[in-house]
Amino acid sequence: MPNKTAQVDQFLLIHSARADNWREITTLADAWAANRGARAALEAAISAVAPAEEYYAYPGRRLLSVLAERIATDDAGGAARLARRISNGLLSHSYRGRQSEWDVHDEMSGAEVTDIMPPGTGEARGRRPYFEVLFVNSQPATRWEAFAAEIRRLRRPEDGFIYEPVLVGSFEDAFCAAALNPDIIAIVLAEGFPYRSRHDAPVLRSVLDPLGETEGPDMSALRLARGLKRIRPELDVYLLSDRQVEKIAGDPTADAVRRVFYAVEEPLEMHLAILEGVQARYETPFFDNLKKYARRPIGTFHALPIARGKSVFKSDWIRDMGEFYGLNLFLAESSATTGGLDSLLEPTGTIKRSQELAARAFGADHVFFVTNGTSTSNKMAVQALLAPGDIAVVDRNCHKSHHYGMVLTGAQPYYVEAFPMTEYSMYGAVPLATIKRALLTLRAEGRLDRLKLLDLTNCTFDGHMYNVRRVMEECLAIKPDLIFLWDEAWSGFARFSPFLRPRTAMGAAADIESWLQDPASVSAYEKQRADLGDEPSDEALLAARLLPDPRLVRLRVYQTNSTHKSMSAIRQGSMLLVKDVDFHTVEAQFHEAVFTHASTSPNQQLIASLDVARRQMELDGYGLVMNAIEIALKIRRAINEHPLISKYFRVLGADEMIPAQYRQSGFKDYLAPGATWATAVKAMNEDEFYLDPTRMTLVCGTAGFDGTQFKGLLANEYDIQLNKTSRNSVLLQSNINNTRSDIAHLVRVLVEICRGIEKRLADGGEGERAAFAARVKSLMTDVPDLPNFSHFHALYRGDAGRKSPEGDMRAAFFHAYDASVCEYVPLIGAECDKRLKEGPEMVSANFVIPYPPGFPIMVPGQVLTQETIDFMRKLDVKEIHGYEKARGLKLVKPDAVAAKAKRSAKAR
Ligand SMILES: Cc1ncc(COP(=O)(O)O)c(C=O)c1O
Repeated sequence: MPNKTAQVDQFLLIHSARADNWREITTLADAWAANRGARAALEAAISAVAPAEEYYAYPGRRLLSVLAERIATDDAGGAARLARRISNGLLSHSYRGRQSEWDVHDEMSGAEVTDIMPPGTGEARGRRPYFEVLFVNSQPATRWEAFAAEIRRLRRPEDGFIYEPVLVGSFEDAFCAAALNPDIIAIVLAEGFPYRSRHDAPVLRSVLDPLGETEGPDMSALRLARGLKRIRPELDVYLLSDRQVEKIAGDPTADAVRRVFYAVEEPLEMHLAILEGVQARYETPFFDNLKKYARRPIGTFHALPIARGKSVFKSDWIRDMGEFYGLNLFLAESSATTGGLDSLLEPTGTIKRSQELAARAFGADHVFFVTNGTSTSNKMAVQALLAPGDIAVVDRNCHKSHHYGMVLTGAQPYYVEAFPMTEYSMYGAVPLATIKRALLTLRAEGRLDRLKLLDLTNCTFDGHMYNVRRVMEECLAIKPDLIFLWDEAWSGFARFSPFLRPRTAMGAAADIESWLQDPASVSAYEKQRADLGDEPSDEALLAARLLPDPRLVRLRVYQTNSTHKSMSAIRQGSMLLVKDVDFHTVEAQFHEAVFTHASTSPNQQLIASLDVARRQMELDGYGLVMNAIEIALKIRRAINEHPLISKYFRVLGADEMIPAQYRQSGFKDYLAPGATWATAVKAMNEDEFYLDPTRMTLVCGTAGFDGTQFKGLLANEYDIQLNKTSRNSVLLQSNINNTRSDIAHLVRVLVEICRGIEKRLADGGEGERAAFAARVKSLMTDVPDLPNFSHFHALYRGDAGRKSPEGDMRAAFFHAYDASVCEYVPLIGAECDKRLKEGPEMVSANFVIPYPPGFPIMVPGQVLTQETIDFMRKLDVKEIHGYEKARGLKLVKPDAVAAKAKRSAKAR
């Protein structure tokens, strides 16, 4: 019931617990009807849900008043039947497709039972997509039912979609409805409504407060429109006014409004505009054309025999593949770049248009679709933005694609370290002080002009989200034209949460953009300059929350995301987002990067899935992401509060994932006593790092499993697929696909595993218990220290600064190709120990990347230290890229390189 005000997920529960609340109401109504319960309990349950129910079209005022009437007239049986029907309707969504569900008729239709089944692939065909439109109006509530009926009368058989109106009468109610009801995807504001809601329900404050919505001097419809777009930028907002609509439409603050209507005009226009607005999001230019293409009878004389499926379906030997995937896959296979299909390498038609729609959805100026994963998007961005000799400040712990990108382009990485989480053999994110120090070091060395890019991962694999705006603003204060590349491989979905959006590259860039346009920003900057004085020391600059000079800033932000990792794109579907005021200066380089990396035979299905993923997020993303967050909070609670599971497993809280100094708000965790959604939101707004709730580190070392072993157990025995592992943990991730059944399955499996452990310990006696304790101790305490990046060998630092650590990694990378300047040294053995103590220094020829943890513990040209060797020796993972156990560490011999260079100089 929604009165659980202290729950951390109180905000999310108001929506997600509706089905549960109505189940509870049904149970109470059944009990009353069977003389087992009291009418008062049922009435109390209904009045608890009543305020929030106003924000939903179904069951709506009419069915609710019939229910109230049946209760008032002691028709217990009738009340129970109607409550059940409403409850089933909410579970099955049958009201979306069947008009009779809204009628007051006999509740015992059989349909409710069949509709509980999930929609099959073909069943939804012919059913028009359903959504809800919020009408904010100033008419008396007694008129609303009639008003809703007038709106419904506008429906026409040829409409592509069907919508139900939701009516509210105040600013506060409008905000709550848009925040709580994800089915609302268009809003009509008729001027003249009051600010305050008619209700004084706690639900209002638990929605408005976390969203930062408070009464201000401006309570106009335009302010509401802007507020609504702030929380849900994908919404279409329409304004009905009986004032000077021409003037309003020309007002720059009316940007948030899609169309302004003169209130007394033909309502059909408004209806059509609403449908057209949804169609503009529903449109998937490339996918639509691919479907059309697949329907055409096409003869193919090109190099793609699988197209049209004839080679598959006619074959006795591979027909099963055709049957498995279905005919459409083959009909849609094509190597054509014309006839509506466009070219990914030089898009001018449907791909171009689809990319433009994606740019709109993700808040970018431009988007590149990429069909080989974010591994490629990153290499493209790095190649396009950096030239040989440029310096990039880069998280050493970032995905290998960035490091390889540096090799490709010949840029010099200035590695910065994330804070270590040694107990779990993983890294966090790079503290802002470390980043600022790197910039200040380069400045002191007179090399700031060579620095082009700051390259960070947001969120990290394990869920650390940067305070993106703060990082960019403080860096821009030191170097106003610095370019930012945010690898958001995991967090593309975050765009569709008003809470997480400010912590994304595009969300923060939009916030900075508005700040730059605000005249007050210049005064704020000037004040800070005066406070800091003319020549502030590095220490003063490190201590201050720096503001950039708005007159100098060039806002240049790039983001890459693995659309396939968090949205409904097929594996490898990725996007590269651009929001760069100087994009025209690098556009040609981006085209080169596309030509370098994109296959000349890109997969059509994949491109289409990027188009479709965008459509889904624009129309449904808000609710899907809320659900993913809510599922994550439920999993956290189900594991950590379960008496048996929590004996052996736990999901790490924010306080264990992020050191206290980076949690300025004092937020400890979602499950900490007293944590509410408001405290979580405060942390999202203020803290240097915030833990993405959907990424859950589950400690399994305490149950005697190392990460790889536990991942294998879950996959092989229980059909549960996990993400990454560390020495003593695994990463669980909730996404837009998860349901509560998944939680139930996980919990049941963990209980079963815990019971197994308990039985083994009970049956095995002292010996078993001692062995278990020793195993846990080894996994949890005997953990290797994480090695920092040491330094590049002097051979690769000829062009580097005195104190700044960048190096020419590309030269080292290619030295590895020349066997005459390389050697191998076994990792275990006296030779390696001797070299560490007495030299000559060992210099890595390769990237050495163990999985897990997945970051390079050696890069080409890096001098190996005791720390690095100790870590390698303690590693107990099987997969180590760049290391051949049989031959040992591949090293470059700097003396041999130098001698060879001398010889060839002489020969010239
Ligand atoms: C931070 C990060 N960036 C990029 C990638 C590569 O993305 P993709 O798998 O889409 O190529 C990954 C993959 O795990 C990653 O973790």
